[in-house]
Amino acid sequence: MGKVHVFDHPLIQHKLSYIRDVNTGTKEFRELVDEVGMLMAYEVSRDLELQDVTIDTPVTTMTAKRLSGKKMAVVPILRAGLGMTDSVLKLIPAARVGHIGLYRDPETFQPVEYFAKLPQDIEERDFIVVDPMLATGGSAIEAISSLKKRGATKIRFMCLIAAPEGVKLLEEAHPDVDIYIAALDEKLNDHGYIVPGLGDAGDRLFGTK
Ligand code: URA
Repeated sequence: MGKVHVFDHPLIQHKLSYIRDVNTGTKEFRELVDEVGMLMAYEVSRDLELQDVTIDTPVTTMTAKRLSGKKMAVVPILRAGLGMTDSVLKLIPAARVGHIGLYRDPETFQPVEYFAKLPQDIEERDFIVVDPMLATGGSAIEAISSLKKRGATKIRFMCLIAAPEGVKLLEEAHPDVDIYIAALDEKLNDHGYIVPGLGDAGDRLFGTK
């Protein structure tokens, strides 16, 4: 069974308060999302496997630990997920990047896939799916289903802000997926926005409001 991890680290909460603030401009918003994404990626990668290697320090020979070389991939859900992609790559630079494009039908709120480009060796990779907002859960569920259909077996999901409704549906649909959240908010409003949330993450990242 996957776990829900909510981060209460002071740096994450501090930066998140500026991300949420309506007075924070595009440049600062983008930088802060990247920084929080990096702090989260540090925790998301906590259970990566290590292996023993023998190295020479200037003083002696020792057995040290290095990542075992498990192949990783980060998959942003377009377009807002792009804002957290470099955050993961800064810590796991060898990761491949897949893209899944989903938009939310404005009336039904249901996700519609319009693009998917993924690494070829899917079965061999661990995936981190990123999207700043877990609202209804529809996009995350669809993106993860799409990965599984293509052969992915180990998937983590990382977002900044989640609504309880989305977390519940995602857990039910994909109980094997660990979910990483910087803040669990109150609810969704009638327009599918998270309350208090941060508004439209894509618009705020790319200045398209
Ligand atoms: N997507 C967003 O960008 N913001 C929300 O509040 C919900 C979904």
